Amino acid sequence: MTNPVRVEHDAKDLSLAPKGKLRIEWAEAEMPVLRLIRQRFEREQPLKGVRISACLHVTTETANLAITLKAGGADLYLCASNPLSTQDDVVACLVTDHGIPTFAQKWEDNVTYYRHIEACIGHKPQITMDDGADLVSALHKEHADLIPGVIGGTEATTTGVIRLRSMQANGVLKFPIVAVNEALTKHMFDNRYGTGQSTLDGIMRATNFLLAGRNVVVAGYGWCGRGFAMRARGLGANVIVTEIDPLKALEALMDGYRVMPMVEAAPIGDILVTLTGDLNVIDGQHLAAMKDGAIVANSGHFNDEINISAMERDAASKRRIREFVDEYRYPDGHRVYLLGEGRLVNLAAAEGHPAAVMDMSFANQALSVEFMVRHARELEKKVYDVPTEIDRGIARLKLEAMGVAIDKLTPQQEKYLASWESGT
Ligand SMILES: NC(=O)c1ccc[n+]([C@@H]2O[C@H](COP(=O)([O-])OP(=O)(O)OC[C@H]3O[C@@H](n4cnc5c(N)ncnc54)[C@H](O)[C@@H]3O)[C@@H](O)[C@H]2O)c1
Repeated sequence: MTNPVRVEHDAKDLSLAPKGKLRIEWAEAEMPVLRLIRQRFEREQPLKGVRISACLHVTTETANLAITLKAGGADLYLCASNPLSTQDDVVACLVTDHGIPTFAQKWEDNVTYYRHIEACIGHKPQITMDDGADLVSALHKEHADLIPGVIGGTEATTTGVIRLRSMQANGVLKFPIVAVNEALTKHMFDNRYGTGQSTLDGIMRATNFLLAGRNVVVAGYGWCGRGFAMRARGLGANVIVTEIDPLKALEALMDGYRVMPMVEAAPIGDILVTLTGDLNVIDGQHLAAMKDGAIVANSGHFNDEINISAMERDAASKRRIREFVDEYRYPDGHRVYLLGEGRLVNLAAAEGHPAAVMDMSFANQALSVEFMVRHARELEKKVYDVPTEIDRGIARLKLEAMGVAIDKLTPQQEKYLASWESGT
């Protein structure tokens, strides 16, 4: 299907559309829950005429979400939530075949990145969709006049939820948001198994490096860090965890990893990966102390987990040695390799999470948008969790789609679990 109406867009190359179409179809096959939602949306049109602006990683999976929202009647504009995560063939297909105005180009600079967000704001959204809260933040900072027209929004990732909660706490959040990240069917799977696998994929594609027998330092033992540590160990790496939270550090220790501060891990790490959502976790002093050939990468939301300014300042020279690998040579001769300019390595150097896991994240997105359209007027200007019925419903559908049945409580068990009288 080719859309006869050429919509507004900023694509790198529209001739890539046929390649994007096939890749989107490939992802769709792994997204049965989203497919079911799309079929219902087509029938019921719950988003009919609703203007949505979405700032998300423009990948094949996001394309399937965008097509689902459009099938539900939405009038959707899409831009990238990271300058390096865009898949240009996907943009081309969304514009050409689906008539979805999409503004994103891989390797776009910061000025272009924000120009694309402005294009989505120019759509005068009633619903916002974010992955990192850049769209909501730009709306609040520079377009307060448009806020009365916004009924609500959704947020996909941990870092975005932290920013929005901070806006709420400071009394500046001007419309309700559903924190999709907080759904169990999102972070337990996407952050853990998605980031776990795709971060390794990004590192391997960027470097073709052997992990077996290497010291892999994992900064942050939250959902993403746990997943990555587990998968790195599976490939034979010696995993070292750094943390600031004593509970998480203890968990990592009892999961069988070595735990130490970054200052001790930095000189012995072969590959060091940040997954924290925090600032300068690998700082100048750590980079200066690394061994020759150490690889540093980030899979947290923003590119400020590794102190890149310190690398630029302290290194004697820099060159791009492979597509996603920058070599920094320090005055004492040791080289440190930075992957994907410190941006989310799984999206910069690979394709992001596998579709099977994004199926649940984007089912949450689609159903949260529908929930927001139906209920926003009853909500306060706060960050809300995804309703439990939606979350559990998605888990049920995913199990069904995977052909896995589970037991049901018998009436006797239900009674037993609700009672307090029976004991030993
Ligand atoms: N790459 C991806 O595709 C992807 C997917 C999901 C989430 N994310 C992003 O990854 C980041 C982590 O998400 P999460 O869901 O794992 O969050 P989380 O809150 O579950 O875990 C973060 C962990 O980092 C630890 N931490 C904070 N500062 C630290 C420091 N200085 N040193 C060591 N540890 C530190 C915290 O104690 C916490 O345990 C966020 O920025 C999130 O938005 C990325």
